[in-house]
Amino acid sequence: MRSLVVKSCCLFFLILFVSQHYSVSATKKLLDPKKPCKRFVLYYHDILFGGDDVANATSATTANATGLGNTNFGMLVVFDDPMTKDQHLLSPPVARAQGFYFYDMKTTYNAWFAYTLIFNSSDHKGTLNIMGADMMMEKTRDLSVVGGTGDFFMARGIATFQTMNQEGTKYFRLKMDIKLYECY
Ligand SMILES: *[C@@H]1O[C@H](CO)[C@@H](O)[C@H](O)[C@H]1NC(C)=O
Ligand SMILES: *[C@@H]1O[C@H](CO)[C@@H](O)[C@H](O)[C@H]1NC(C)=O
Ligand SMILES: *[C@@H]1O[C@H](CO)[C@@H](O)[C@H](O)[C@H]1NC(C)=O
Repeated sequence: MRSLVVKSCCLFFLILFVSQHYSVSATKKLLDPKKPCKRFVLYYHDILFGGDDVANATSATTANATGLGNTNFGMLVVFDDPMTKDQHLLSPPVARAQGFYFYDMKTTYNAWFAYTLIFNSSDHKGTLNIMGADMMMEKTRDLSVVGGTGDFFMARGIATFQTMNQEGTKYFRLKMDIKLYECY
């Protein structure tokens, strides 16, 4: 009789433990930042329109800086920029980055990006939508990949920016290390 009580008691705790374990793992997704399901590096090239370089420019200021501070606060730039696999501006683009950024900090250069990477090649067809703060003074910055279409259907992840080159306000190049944690 006593051993039956002990056994049923053990069984009760075993069931409790197993059910708790399963209910936790069913609601919590375990994502390891070091293990994206897809990862690739692309380089972004932005050439700001200067008034007489229509053929070469890839972006243009559509609202000027406001004069609040001296870090371009309020300046809005719309871009249609080439994305290349290596750092060369003239390498064949594998995607386009279309969207905008604006400067949003009074005391230092800081921008906010929202854009779509558009892939239209034999390798990839589809889009990735990316947005977030570009704190230019940091060596690397993480922006959110908030969604995707086509080959990137329902994707989510992180795009890590790193400034590779900067020629005043005329040209800059960013490394974008794109890591997806949801792939379908
Ligand atoms: C286009 O702009 C880039 C960046 O400023 C510059 O390096 C390049 O020489 C320009 N190309 C032409 C054809 O003007
Ligand atoms: C922005 O300001 C500069 C310098 O004051 C001027 O040359 C340019 O035309 C302005 N651009 C716009 C879009 O207002
Ligand atoms: C994608 O590429 C094809 C073939 O070059 C072209 O016909 C089509 O218009 C392109 N689509 C977009 C959205 O750029």
